[in-house]
Amino acid sequence: MPPSRIKEKPPAAEPAAERVNRPIRSFVRREGRMTEAQRRAFDEFGPRYLLDFQEAPCDLDAVFGRTAPRTLEIGFGMGDSVLDMARRHPERDHLGVEVHRPGVGRLLRALADEDIRNVRILCADAVQVLTHMISDATLDAVFLFFPDPWHKTRHHKRRIVQPAFVELIARRLKPGGIFHLATDWEDYARHMLAVLEQSPSFTNSAGAGNYAPRPDERVLTKFERRGERLGHGVWDLVFSRTKDRANGDGG
Ligand SMILES: C[S@@+](CC[C@H](N)C(=O)[O-])C[C@H]1O[C@@H](n2cnc3c(N)ncnc32)[C@H](O)[C@@H]1O
Repeated sequence: MPPSRIKEKPPAAEPAAERVNRPIRSFVRREGRMTEAQRRAFDEFGPRYLLDFQEAPCDLDAVFGRTAPRTLEIGFGMGDSVLDMARRHPERDHLGVEVHRPGVGRLLRALADEDIRNVRILCADAVQVLTHMISDATLDAVFLFFPDPWHKTRHHKRRIVQPAFVELIARRLKPGGIFHLATDWEDYARHMLAVLEQSPSFTNSAGAGNYAPRPDERVLTKFERRGERLGHGVWDLVFSRTKDRANGDGG
């Protein structure tokens, strides 16, 4: 693998006092460079598209003004796939969650430019959003495309895909709902496959032990294009929420 890919900064720069009692996060907040347009987008279009993080369930019917199939994308980066899905599926509502403010600013502007109405954005930790704001069995699909791979073994605990995270997603999905993941890091793909296949809450749509063919629907993101240039492979995983007869899910 090209050395340019291993450039995650260890989170050791934090003062020890701040590390105590804090959950392990899958991201390090880097403000990066915000363009003036991205910064302005928060003021101009934030009121229309941004939801504030709250430690209470969110009434999504009230937020979107309708009842519709709902998807949630974790870590949308610059927002390519949220935008693409919102365009192609106006009959669905789309929630995008991202901590990287420049990406949020870019997506806000793109949504407003096209007057897209079926998207809301949370600039917050997706784990916190899923834990507090999303009610059980409310989502039709959850997307996790190219999550930070945290290459080094000592950072693997920061990978967002862990058994507890997978069960959290399972609870928020409707029975039969889809959890679609993609990564360009083979070791992370194997880890994802192992964690998901150990979960009683999910069934592998591609058959046990298999990766899924790349769905035509998944748009090529900036991150994936970069990986392609560097000659990386891509692994898709498509799992469906197991219908639980005991709980009357109707499966
Ligand atoms: C490698 S980038 C991929 C971005 C995008 N999905 C793509 O394919 O271009 C991973 C993204 O996940 C975001 N991220 C990581 N952990 C997150 C979390 N817990 N909540 C929200 N966003 C997160 C990061 O800020 C980053 O933008």
